[in-house]
Amino acid sequence: MQIIRQLNTLKKAISDLRSNGSTVALVPTMGALHAGHMQLVHDAAKQANHVIASIFVNPTQFGEGEDLDAYPRQEEADAKLLREAGVAILWAPTAEEMYPHGYATSISVSGVSMGLCGGSRPGHFDGVATVVSKLFNQVEPDIALFGEKDYQQLAVLRRMVRDLDFTLDIIGVPTVRDHDGLALSSRNAYLSAQDRAAATHFPKALREGIAKLEDGADVATTLREIEAQILAAGFKSVDYVSLCDADNLRELNRLDRPARLLSAARIGATRLIDNMAVNPS
Ligand code: PAJ
Repeated sequence: MQIIRQLNTLKKAISDLRSNGSTVALVPTMGALHAGHMQLVHDAAKQANHVIASIFVNPTQFGEGEDLDAYPRQEEADAKLLREAGVAILWAPTAEEMYPHGYATSISVSGVSMGLCGGSRPGHFDGVATVVSKLFNQVEPDIALFGEKDYQQLAVLRRMVRDLDFTLDIIGVPTVRDHDGLALSSRNAYLSAQDRAAATHFPKALREGIAKLEDGADVATTLREIEAQILAAGFKSVDYVSLCDADNLRELNRLDRPARLLSAARIGATRLIDNMAVNPS
Protein backbone atom coordinates (compact mmCIF):
# COMPACT_ATOMS: atom_id res chain seq x y z
CA MET A 1 0.00 0.00 0.00
CA GLN A 2 1.31 3.43 -0.95
CA ILE A 3 0.81 6.28 1.53
CA ILE A 4 0.54 9.50 -0.48
CA ARG A 5 0.38 13.10 0.75
CA GLN A 6 0.86 15.16 -2.45
CA LEU A 7 -1.83 15.54 -5.10
CA ASN A 8 0.51 15.22 -8.11
CA THR A 9 1.86 11.92 -6.71
CA LEU A 10 -1.71 10.71 -6.16
CA LYS A 11 -2.77 11.53 -9.73
CA LYS A 12 0.22 9.61 -11.13
CA ALA A 13 -0.39 6.56 -8.89
CA ILE A 14 -4.08 6.45 -9.83
CA SER A 15 -3.36 6.67 -13.54
CA ASP A 16 -0.95 3.70 -13.10
CA LEU A 17 -3.69 1.73 -11.28
CA ARG A 18 -6.17 2.51 -14.03
CA SER A 19 -3.82 1.82 -16.95
CA ASN A 20 -5.36 -1.60 -17.72
CA GLY A 21 -8.95 -0.39 -17.39
CA SER A 22 -9.28 -1.22 -13.68
CA THR A 23 -12.02 0.34 -11.56
CA VAL A 24 -11.39 2.36 -8.40
CA ALA A 25 -13.45 2.67 -5.20
CA LEU A 26 -12.95 5.52 -2.73
CA VAL A 27 -13.58 5.23 1.02
CA PRO A 28 -13.25 8.67 2.65
CA THR A 29 -12.57 8.73 6.41
CA MET A 30 -11.18 10.90 9.18
CA GLY A 31 -9.15 7.98 10.57
CA ALA A 32 -9.31 6.33 14.03
CA LEU A 33 -10.59 3.37 12.07
CA HIS A 34 -12.92 0.77 13.57
CA ALA A 35 -14.95 -2.16 12.22
CA GLY A 36 -17.55 0.25 10.79
CA HIS A 37 -14.97 1.93 8.55
CA MET A 38 -13.45 -1.44 7.65
CA GLN A 39 -16.85 -2.74 6.50
CA LEU A 40 -16.82 0.07 3.92
CA VAL A 41 -13.34 -1.02 2.81
CA HIS A 42 -14.38 -4.69 2.53
CA ASP A 43 -17.52 -3.80 0.56
CA ALA A 44 -15.41 -1.53 -1.67
CA ALA A 45 -13.00 -4.36 -2.45
CA LYS A 46 -15.92 -6.53 -3.61
CA GLN A 47 -17.17 -3.87 -6.00
CA ALA A 48 -14.01 -2.44 -7.59
CA ASN A 49 -10.55 -3.65 -8.65
CA HIS A 50 -8.70 -1.19 -6.40
CA VAL A 51 -9.59 0.55 -3.15
CA ILE A 52 -8.30 3.98 -2.23
CA ALA A 53 -8.94 5.07 1.36
CA SER A 54 -8.48 8.64 2.50
CA ILE A 55 -7.71 9.90 5.98
CA PHE A 56 -8.14 13.62 6.50
CA VAL A 57 -9.44 15.22 9.70
CA ASN A 58 -11.28 17.98 7.88
CA PRO A 59 -11.15 21.23 9.87
CA THR A 60 -13.98 22.91 7.91
CA GLN A 61 -16.62 20.45 9.14
CA PHE A 62 -15.88 21.06 12.84
CA GLY A 63 -17.67 23.97 14.52
CA GLU A 64 -16.29 26.29 17.15
CA GLY A 65 -15.92 24.43 20.45
CA GLU A 66 -16.13 21.01 18.76
CA ASP A 67 -13.49 18.29 19.11
CA LEU A 68 -11.15 19.10 16.14
CA ASP A 69 -7.98 19.25 18.27
CA ALA A 70 -8.98 16.29 20.43
CA TYR A 71 -10.17 14.16 17.48
CA PRO A 72 -8.30 10.81 17.74
CA ARG A 73 -5.32 10.54 15.34
CA GLN A 74 -3.60 7.15 14.93
CA GLU A 75 -2.35 6.97 11.37
CA GLU A 76 0.13 4.16 11.90
CA ALA A 77 -2.48 1.77 13.33
CA ASP A 78 -4.97 2.84 10.65
CA ALA A 79 -2.42 2.24 7.87
CA LYS A 80 -1.79 -1.27 9.20
CA LEU A 81 -5.52 -2.12 9.08
CA LEU A 82 -5.89 -0.71 5.57
CA ARG A 83 -2.78 -2.52 4.31
CA GLU A 84 -4.07 -5.83 5.72
CA ALA A 85 -7.42 -5.22 4.01
CA GLY A 86 -5.66 -4.91 0.65
CA VAL A 87 -6.08 -1.16 0.12
CA ALA A 88 -3.92 0.05 -2.79
CA ILE A 89 -3.45 3.68 -1.77
CA LEU A 90 -3.87 5.60 1.48
CA TRP A 91 -4.45 9.24 0.53
CA ALA A 92 -3.51 11.29 3.59
CA PRO A 93 -3.05 14.89 2.48
CA THR A 94 -1.86 17.63 4.79
CA ALA A 95 -4.23 20.51 5.62
CA GLU A 96 -2.06 22.79 3.43
CA GLU A 97 -2.37 20.40 0.48
CA MET A 98 -6.17 20.26 0.88
CA TYR A 99 -6.72 23.97 1.63
CA PRO A 100 -3.75 25.90 0.20
CA HIS A 101 -3.14 29.52 1.17
CA GLY A 102 -5.94 31.70 -0.19
CA TYR A 103 -8.46 28.83 -0.40
CA ALA A 104 -11.92 30.45 -0.85
CA THR A 105 -14.50 27.97 -2.21
CA SER A 106 -17.32 26.18 -0.41
CA ILE A 107 -20.06 23.77 -1.54
CA SER A 108 -23.41 24.17 0.16
CA VAL A 109 -26.26 21.70 -0.40
CA SER A 110 -29.46 23.35 0.77
CA GLY A 111 -32.67 21.56 1.85
CA VAL A 112 -31.36 18.21 3.00
CA SER A 113 -28.48 19.87 4.94
CA MET A 114 -30.90 21.92 7.05
CA GLY A 115 -32.43 20.55 10.26
CA LEU A 116 -31.31 17.48 12.22
CA CYS A 117 -27.47 17.61 12.56
CA GLY A 118 -27.42 20.66 10.25
CA GLY A 119 -29.52 22.47 12.88
CA SER A 120 -27.28 21.62 15.84
CA ARG A 121 -23.99 21.87 13.86
CA PRO A 122 -24.28 24.97 11.59
CA GLY A 123 -21.87 24.84 8.64
CA HIS A 124 -21.01 21.18 9.26
CA PHE A 125 -22.46 19.82 6.00
CA ASP A 126 -20.90 22.64 3.93
CA GLY A 127 -17.55 21.44 5.27
CA VAL A 128 -18.40 17.81 4.46
CA ALA A 129 -19.72 18.60 0.95
CA THR A 130 -16.68 20.74 0.17
CA VAL A 131 -14.06 18.22 1.27
CA VAL A 132 -15.87 15.27 -0.32
CA SER A 133 -16.22 17.09 -3.66
CA LYS A 134 -12.48 17.82 -3.51
CA LEU A 135 -11.79 14.12 -2.77
CA PHE A 136 -13.99 13.14 -5.73
CA ASN A 137 -12.04 15.49 -8.03
CA GLN A 138 -8.69 14.30 -6.65
CA VAL A 139 -9.39 10.56 -6.93
CA GLU A 140 -12.07 10.47 -9.69
CA PRO A 141 -13.39 7.12 -8.37
CA ASP A 142 -16.00 4.92 -10.08
CA ILE A 143 -17.76 4.39 -6.75
CA ALA A 144 -17.52 5.94 -3.28
CA LEU A 145 -18.79 4.27 -0.11
CA PHE A 146 -20.36 5.97 2.90
CA GLY A 147 -22.00 4.60 6.06
CA GLU A 148 -25.70 4.84 6.84
CA LYS A 149 -24.49 5.62 10.37
CA ASP A 150 -24.22 9.23 9.11
CA TYR A 151 -27.52 9.08 7.27
CA GLN A 152 -27.93 12.82 6.71
CA GLN A 153 -24.36 13.03 5.38
CA LEU A 154 -25.19 10.22 2.92
CA ALA A 155 -28.36 12.05 1.79
CA VAL A 156 -26.45 15.36 1.38
CA LEU A 157 -23.74 13.67 -0.70
CA ARG A 158 -26.26 11.82 -2.90
CA ARG A 159 -27.96 15.17 -3.58
CA MET A 160 -24.61 16.84 -4.32
CA VAL A 161 -23.55 14.12 -6.78
CA ARG A 162 -26.85 14.46 -8.67
CA ASP A 163 -26.77 18.27 -8.63
CA LEU A 164 -23.13 18.71 -9.67
CA ASP A 165 -23.03 15.87 -12.24
CA PHE A 166 -20.27 13.86 -10.58
CA THR A 167 -19.94 10.68 -12.64
CA LEU A 168 -19.66 8.15 -9.83
CA ASP A 169 -22.02 5.95 -7.84
CA ILE A 170 -22.52 6.52 -4.13
CA ILE A 171 -22.93 3.27 -2.17
CA GLY A 172 -24.56 3.38 1.28
CA VAL A 173 -23.39 0.73 3.78
CA PRO A 174 -25.58 -0.40 6.74
CA THR A 175 -24.44 0.66 10.22
CA VAL A 176 -22.04 -1.69 12.01
CA ARG A 177 -22.95 -2.03 15.71
CA ASP A 178 -21.25 -3.21 18.89
CA HIS A 179 -22.49 -6.41 20.58
CA ASP A 180 -25.02 -4.38 22.63
CA GLY A 181 -26.43 -2.45 19.67
CA LEU A 182 -24.49 0.82 20.02
CA ALA A 183 -23.39 2.07 16.59
CA LEU A 184 -19.59 1.97 16.28
CA SER A 185 -18.10 5.46 16.28
CA SER A 186 -14.65 6.96 16.83
CA ARG A 187 -16.31 9.12 19.48
CA ASN A 188 -17.33 6.08 21.60
CA ALA A 189 -13.72 6.09 22.82
CA TYR A 190 -14.49 9.29 24.75
CA LEU A 191 -17.16 7.58 26.91
CA SER A 192 -16.49 6.67 30.54
CA ALA A 193 -17.31 3.06 31.49
CA GLN A 194 -20.54 4.23 33.13
CA ASP A 195 -21.60 6.33 30.12
CA ARG A 196 -20.68 3.50 27.75
CA ALA A 197 -23.01 1.20 29.70
CA ALA A 198 -25.82 3.79 29.58
CA ALA A 199 -25.26 4.44 25.86
CA THR A 200 -26.79 1.07 24.94
CA HIS A 201 -30.19 2.57 25.87
CA PHE A 202 -29.90 4.99 22.93
CA PRO A 203 -30.37 2.43 20.12
CA LYS A 204 -32.74 0.48 22.39
CA ALA A 205 -35.05 3.51 22.77
CA LEU A 206 -35.03 3.97 18.98
CA ARG A 207 -35.81 0.30 18.34
CA GLU A 208 -38.69 0.29 20.83
CA GLY A 209 -40.05 3.53 19.36
CA ILE A 210 -39.93 2.06 15.86
CA ALA A 211 -41.95 -0.99 16.99
CA LYS A 212 -44.65 1.40 18.28
CA LEU A 213 -44.60 3.56 15.14
CA GLU A 214 -44.87 0.54 12.88
CA ASP A 215 -47.82 -0.60 15.04
CA GLY A 216 -49.59 2.68 14.21
CA ALA A 217 -48.80 4.77 17.32
CA ASP A 218 -49.07 8.58 17.09
CA VAL A 219 -45.80 10.01 15.77
CA ALA A 220 -45.46 13.12 18.00
CA THR A 221 -46.30 11.15 21.16
CA THR A 222 -43.85 8.36 20.29
CA LEU A 223 -41.03 10.81 19.54
CA ARG A 224 -41.59 12.42 22.97
CA GLU A 225 -41.53 8.98 24.63
CA ILE A 226 -38.25 8.09 22.89
CA GLU A 227 -36.67 11.36 24.06
CA ALA A 228 -37.85 10.74 27.64
CA GLN A 229 -36.41 7.21 27.54
CA ILE A 230 -33.00 8.50 26.33
CA LEU A 231 -32.91 11.15 29.09
CA ALA A 232 -33.99 8.61 31.73
CA ALA A 233 -31.01 6.42 30.74
CA GLY A 234 -28.60 9.18 31.84
CA PHE A 235 -28.13 11.27 28.68
CA LYS A 236 -27.60 14.98 29.41
CA SER A 237 -29.67 16.30 26.51
CA VAL A 238 -31.29 15.28 23.25
CA ASP A 239 -30.53 17.47 20.19
CA TYR A 240 -33.37 15.90 18.18
CA VAL A 241 -35.49 12.80 17.66
CA SER A 242 -37.15 13.03 14.24
CA LEU A 243 -39.10 10.87 11.85
CA CYS A 244 -38.18 11.82 8.27
CA ASP A 245 -38.84 10.79 4.69
CA ALA A 246 -36.09 8.23 3.98
CA ASP A 247 -35.05 9.98 0.74
CA ASN A 248 -35.24 13.74 1.20
CA LEU A 249 -35.25 13.81 5.04
CA ARG A 250 -38.32 16.08 5.22
CA GLU A 251 -39.95 15.70 8.63
CA LEU A 252 -43.03 13.49 8.80
CA ASN A 253 -45.85 13.64 11.32
CA ARG A 254 -47.50 10.53 9.86
CA LEU A 255 -45.84 7.26 8.90
CA ASP A 256 -47.18 7.12 5.34
CA ARG A 257 -44.02 6.26 3.36
CA PRO A 258 -40.59 4.63 3.89
CA ALA A 259 -39.08 6.67 6.72
CA ARG A 260 -36.04 7.02 8.93
CA LEU A 261 -35.95 7.67 12.66
CA LEU A 262 -32.91 9.85 13.42
CA SER A 263 -31.56 11.13 16.72
CA ALA A 264 -28.59 12.91 18.28
CA ALA A 265 -28.07 13.01 22.04
CA ARG A 266 -25.34 14.06 24.45
CA ILE A 267 -23.87 11.94 27.23
CA GLY A 268 -20.99 13.27 29.32
CA ALA A 269 -19.06 15.47 26.88
CA THR A 270 -19.88 13.23 23.92
CA ARG A 271 -22.50 13.65 21.21
CA LEU A 272 -23.82 10.39 19.76
CA ILE A 273 -25.96 9.97 16.64
CA ASP A 274 -27.99 7.04 15.38
CA ASN A 275 -30.75 6.28 12.87
CA MET A 276 -32.85 3.33 11.74
CA ALA A 277 -35.35 2.49 9.00
CA VAL A 278 -39.09 2.73 9.76
CA ASN A 279 -41.52 1.06 7.40
CA PRO A 280 -45.24 1.81 7.06
CA SER A 281 -47.46 -1.28 7.25
P1 PAJ B 1 -15.73 9.33 9.57
O1 PAJ B 1 -16.56 9.73 10.74
O2 PAJ B 1 -14.32 8.89 9.79
O3 PAJ B 1 -16.49 8.19 8.83
C1 PAJ B 1 -16.00 7.67 7.61
C2 PAJ B 1 -17.06 6.79 7.00
O4 PAJ B 1 -17.30 5.67 7.85
C3 PAJ B 1 -18.43 7.52 6.84
O5 PAJ B 1 -18.99 7.19 5.58
C4 PAJ B 1 -19.22 6.97 7.98
O6 PAJ B 1 -20.62 7.00 7.76
C5 PAJ B 1 -18.70 5.54 8.04
N1 PAJ B 1 -18.98 4.92 9.36
C6 PAJ B 1 -18.63 5.41 10.58
N2 PAJ B 1 -19.11 4.58 11.56
C7 PAJ B 1 -19.77 3.58 10.92
C8 PAJ B 1 -20.49 2.43 11.38
N3 PAJ B 1 -20.62 2.14 12.67
N4 PAJ B 1 -21.03 1.61 10.45
C9 PAJ B 1 -20.90 1.88 9.12
N5 PAJ B 1 -20.24 2.96 8.63
C10 PAJ B 1 -19.68 3.80 9.52
O7 PAJ B 1 -17.87 10.69 7.96
C11 PAJ B 1 -16.73 11.17 7.96
O8 PAJ B 1 -15.63 10.54 8.51
C12 PAJ B 1 -16.41 12.50 7.29
O9 PAJ B 1 -17.53 13.35 7.39
C13 PAJ B 1 -15.97 12.37 5.81
C14 PAJ B 1 -17.08 11.76 4.94
C15 PAJ B 1 -14.69 11.53 5.70
C16 PAJ B 1 -15.67 13.79 5.23
O10 PAJ B 1 -14.67 14.42 5.98
